[in-house]
Amino acid sequence: MLLYGPPGTGKTTVAENLADALGFSLITITVSDFLAGGGGEVEARAKMMFEVLQAQANVVILFDEIDELVLDRSSKRHGQQDTVFKFMTPGMLTKLNNLRRAKRSIFIMATNYAYRIDPAIRRTGRIDENYLLLPPDSDSRQRMIKQFLGSAVKDKAIPDGHELDPFQLDKEEKWDSLTKASFFLGYKDIEAAVARVIRRKDDTRTRAELERELLGWGRTTTLRLYNSAFHETDDRDAIVREFFPLVEMAKREGQSLHENPALDISDMLKVDERTGKVPFTSENEMNSLAAKFVKERSPDYDGR
Ligand SMILES: Nc1ncnc2c1ncn2[C@@H]1O[C@H](COP(=O)(O)OP(=O)(O)O)[C@@H](O)[C@H]1O
Ligand SMILES: [Mg+2]
Repeated sequence: MLLYGPPGTGKTTVAENLADALGFSLITITVSDFLAGGGGEVEARAKMMFEVLQAQANVVILFDEIDELVLDRSSKRHGQQDTVFKFMTPGMLTKLNNLRRAKRSIFIMATNYAYRIDPAIRRTGRIDENYLLLPPDSDSRQRMIKQFLGSAVKDKAIPDGHELDPFQLDKEEKWDSLTKASFFLGYKDIEAAVARVIRRKDDTRTRAELERELLGWGRTTTLRLYNSAFHETDDRDAIVREFFPLVEMAKREGQSLHENPALDISDMLKVDERTGKVPFTSENEMNSLAAKFVKERSPDYDGR
């Protein structure tokens, strides 16, 4: 199974909870496991690790943040990407495939950037399921902010009836600006931003300050991240699969693609000097392609 989507959207958590629900142990493998013996040892370590994995049953094996396994990324942006699969001999691949067919374990790869995975791996049928995880939508974000502020009231960190008391926010219908300001933030970011404002002195513990904090919080989900993606690989489908749902989300929530640096798509409308190509001729084109893409994928989608 492949789990992909921006950082902090719950990929690792899904794998953990899946193992938990099945009563399986979770074996997490990250890039440091491959590199622990130094650069020259990567292949040997990979071999050893796969031998161990092949002997397991009833486990969830998580290859976490596998895009980090794309070695020497800067010099090899085009095509040729070294992934963990490169370090697997044909013999190991066969064993892994046998393991897959036996269905004794669940093998999950998680990545922030699915388009960076070698297309050959995606096409050869080694991945049975693909799931895109997205940042929380506005309803979920409001629920999160409410939860964190509610805890603060309960812990007496802010008094009842304070302008940050969820009850007060409900009453005055003041959620909108906070929900908007937290766009493209994840659970942990929102938790941290709220905590930071709660810890302040009374006169700066305000709704306006929380809004400012959320707006200014560093985002790991951005559209800007994809500016160069279209020039990294010709596999356009692989990029838009993760990019278009984010564009559509921005439009649905009424976030202008210009006013927020996280939504900067300017490079996608320019001709790339190296390739002579332009990903999209206009923002309108990009938006309508994104809307069409999402609609086709989710027939129940109501464009809300
Ligand atoms: N939908 C969610 N609801 C509640 N908590 C979440 C959700 N998604 C992520 N989290 C929390 O956010 C943090 C980051 O999630 P994580 O699974 O590490 O994301 P990823 O692996 O995609 O980067 C974790 O502490 C997780 O518990
Ligand atoms: Mg993770």
